[in-house]
Amino acid sequence: MGEIFGIGTSHVPYLMGAPENMVRLRQGICKMVERLEGRPFQDPPEALAQLGDNPMEVGKEHHRLHWQAFTQLRAYIDEVSPDAILLIGDDQAQCFQANNLPPYALYVGAQVDAKPFYMSRFPGDAEYIRQTWGVAPDHRYLWPCQAELAVAIRDELLRNGFDIASSNDLNSDRWQYGLGHAHANTQLFLHNDDGRYPIIPLFINCYGSDLNIFGTMASGQSLEAQSTSGYPPAPTSRRLYEMGRVIRNVLLRRPERVLVCPSSTWSHTWLTKKHHRMRMDVEGNLEKMHWFERGQASLLAEYDSPDIENNGDHELRNWIVAAGIMGNRSMEVMWHVISWVSTGFRVFGIWR
Ligand SMILES: [Fe+2]
Repeated sequence: MGEIFGIGTSHVPYLMGAPENMVRLRQGICKMVERLEGRPFQDPPEALAQLGDNPMEVGKEHHRLHWQAFTQLRAYIDEVSPDAILLIGDDQAQCFQANNLPPYALYVGAQVDAKPFYMSRFPGDAEYIRQTWGVAPDHRYLWPCQAELAVAIRDELLRNGFDIASSNDLNSDRWQYGLGHAHANTQLFLHNDDGRYPIIPLFINCYGSDLNIFGTMASGQSLEAQSTSGYPPAPTSRRLYEMGRVIRNVLLRRPERVLVCPSSTWSHTWLTKKHHRMRMDVEGNLEKMHWFERGQASLLAEYDSPDIENNGDHELRNWIVAAGIMGNRSMEVMWHVISWVSTGFRVFGIWR
């Protein structure tokens, strides 16, 4: 009988670049919010208190603290030494775009390529990448995957009524960077860039109709102009939770020891519609974090649209699949951060 372990984490794009650039990335986000909301960006009082009069130093400190949390998670992975890591992440119109956009998809190839540093373009980033990972910014990784188990999960999902898509090549004429940001960043932060632990990437369409925000970021066009791309809604939370239950049953019948790893920031300031994209849903996220701690994560099956979008919690959908797999097993929160400087609420936890 297989064993299931879990860690919960995030794919923090800020850590893909040098510490001093965290505050620059934030400035870009604030400008985008101003365009979307048609008014000047105004930090809430708790953000102003955190940023103080030297936001760059705060950014550097948060950069360091995030790395510290990833190092602790990696130590736990080594302790468990799993046969595979089931990496659950969102795709932001990268591998899956409007021309081909499943609600969820599983990667079933024996290896996966990734060219993850395409966004790291500020001064100092290239040097940081060389120092941190020992590669040039245009490096293409080739990581091993646990294809046999991935195929078993896919086939069982299909036989249980979950029409999951699958792929063994994530590149296309629209996308040449292989594995997208959520999975590739997580690999790098967990120091799995050497491919020591084979992965199984599971993609969830967390953004649904709000995927148009990424077109807006890239092109500077309005959300309305972008919405013509007609993105479908995200799958329901109940469905994601139930899919996790089926995956759990497959894993328990298999011989492999598997580490489940949802990777995403919870509430993002710039996604939180109820606060005009200037404040994250701190209170709601603290409550949900306690659900995980108290073994009540099944409550998330009833947490759905439009609340998820109003609270900026789109990417929490990755964790809802994990909640289905782990059931009401309580998660130990190792660290959580309300990071105004990096615009999100993040949880780092372990299901032992
Ligand atoms: Fe993401």
